[in-house]
Amino acid sequence: MSADYQQFHDRLEAHDDIAINPSGNTPLEQLLNPSRRHLIKGGLSLAALGFLSGGIAACRPASASPLLNFTGVPPQTDPGFDRVLVADGYSATPFFSWGDPVEAGAPQWNPDASDDWQAQLKQAGDNHDGMEFFAFDGETDRGLLVMNHEYVNPPLHPSSVIDQSKPRPLAEVRKEQAAHGVSVIEVRKDASGAWQRVMDSPYNRRISALTPMRVAGPLAGHEAMKTVADPEGLEVLGTINNCSTGMTPWGTFLTCEENWHNYFINRDLADYDGRVAHKRYGLATRGTSKNFAWETADPRFDATPDATQAHGGYVNEPNRFGWVVEIDPFDPQAQPIKRTAFGRFGRECAALSLADDGRMAFYSGDDAKGEYIYKFVPAGRFDAANPAANRELLEEGTLYVARFDADGSGRWLALVHGQHGLTAENGFASQAYILLNARAAADKAGATPMDRPEWAAVHPTTREVYVTLTNNDQRGDKVPTDKANPRPHNLHGQILRFNEEGGAPTATAFTWELFLLAGEPKGARDASGKPVPANLVGTINGDAFSSPDGLGFDKNGRLWIQTDYEDKEAPMQAMGCNQLLCADPSTREVRRFLVGPRGCEVTGLAWSPDGRTMWVNIQHPTLSFPASDGKSRPRSTTMMITKNDGGVIGS
Ligand code: FEO
Ligand code: CA
Ligand code: CA
Ligand code: CA
Repeated sequence: MSADYQQFHDRLEAHDDIAINPSGNTPLEQLLNPSRRHLIKGGLSLAALGFLSGGIAACRPASASPLLNFTGVPPQTDPGFDRVLVADGYSATPFFSWGDPVEAGAPQWNPDASDDWQAQLKQAGDNHDGMEFFAFDGETDRGLLVMNHEYVNPPLHPSSVIDQSKPRPLAEVRKEQAAHGVSVIEVRKDASGAWQRVMDSPYNRRISALTPMRVAGPLAGHEAMKTVADPEGLEVLGTINNCSTGMTPWGTFLTCEENWHNYFINRDLADYDGRVAHKRYGLATRGTSKNFAWETADPRFDATPDATQAHGGYVNEPNRFGWVVEIDPFDPQAQPIKRTAFGRFGRECAALSLADDGRMAFYSGDDAKGEYIYKFVPAGRFDAANPAANRELLEEGTLYVARFDADGSGRWLALVHGQHGLTAENGFASQAYILLNARAAADKAGATPMDRPEWAAVHPTTREVYVTLTNNDQRGDKVPTDKANPRPHNLHGQILRFNEEGGAPTATAFTWELFLLAGEPKGARDASGKPVPANLVGTINGDAFSSPDGLGFDKNGRLWIQTDYEDKEAPMQAMGCNQLLCADPSTREVRRFLVGPRGCEVTGLAWSPDGRTMWVNIQHPTLSFPASDGKSRPRSTTMMITKNDGGVIGS
């Protein structure tokens, strides 16, 4: 099972980040001269010869940082490592796994994994990703944990195979659709102080790729949103590839649709070539859709135009994904809302920055090679005294995309009709088309192509913004290096931080710097004793890691970093399995807090109101974690982390 699983997972990973940005937007400055670049290219093959060694800190004692009060854990390089290792004095307990009952009447998870999709509709989905904690009003011991289920893996099925070479059985497809989306679960502190699930809570809810949702904002009812099944263009069935998240000040959850393009196909090449809404996002055109071939059982995912059907059949169905979906976790009856004012791309997250005067911004990465960083600024202001008005705040606003200039300054470019060449003559007939084709609009506006922007996080007091750029093995090929993306063939990624002018979320100017370059420590050598190529060496003050992805601040200003890289690749093997690290934004010190099982990505994090419990998601482990019998299927799982003395995590 695990070889199939690994192969399948690798295939999914390999195409979730394909570079298709044709803009030719040029970063302003190249740091490296051609001769140095040549050396670096030569060096890569050396690294591929063997494991890298040297300089990896194992256990790091407490240091100068007042924030990092735990002893770091060493990297785990054993290919059979199949548990969660957490810092000394802490415990990690499986809390919520794929298949666990959520809604009333849900059966217990069955290790034989039947294809009962009706059961899956009521059980936890697969591939837990971004996660938020919502406290009940005025309560600190009771809340709702809400999380994304990004996609599915083969252990979902009894055969442990997803075979895209044949038409897919409808029952399998339905089960996969049911395992996507979002879970809402109530959690409560028990008498001993431990958080437990409330199994019979009326708030427990599953949202999936089959849940009806309302289209709101500038694309509601728009021609480009109409399909044969929804001639009004007002209601979409479901949400898919829900990666990272956001949270509004009025207590709603934002789920972000990331690699939705992998679920669609348009076989009409001439149509595809002329359709920006398909081509600029890289839909499949031959064979099957890239993920799961649902179109072989469910015609909704075949976006080939069909002139015999109203609105071209499902040619517009892909236009109905790539949005932010707002969900009210406190109202289990409320229909989720697709917020089209945010614009459409491969959206990773929607991280809130809220000013004292109620103005706000939501920051998002578009995770593909050479794509952009965006922010959405609602037109109105949050007003705690006016809850009804807050419910409309995501209806209208301005979408901006970032340009990073070589002198450490930056601009937010408004993607607004009539500005930056976004005119009808240039292919943008209206504001709705700018939002629908946000990538093309950002190309035109002159945004800076980045090394796969993943999560953003906003410091709780300074409102400094941090963004992970996970990696980009094509940097330096078609798109030259620049100051914000300085390394060719960038396997390890970097974290940027920027300050909005005047600290205002609504500013259109900012200053920025590299917070760190991830990678091997300075002085690291490969197995043959040669220095590691310069482009693989990081600037981390502390424990080495690669490919930062998940990112979040706790209330005390600790910056938590989660990693997502191929943990079997030789040049990265010395870093071991994926991990959760903690950084001090002032000293830039980084320390490894937790290591996940082999093959997993560590992603998603949330805290209880007192900061004494942390939940962390272990996504797509490959061995058998956390099967209690040690043999049955691996399951994506939320872990609950506590400090054994009951203290605040990290303190
Ligand atoms: Fe789903 Fe870019 O991570
Ligand atoms: Ca991610
Ligand atoms: Ca990632
Ligand atoms: Ca992932």
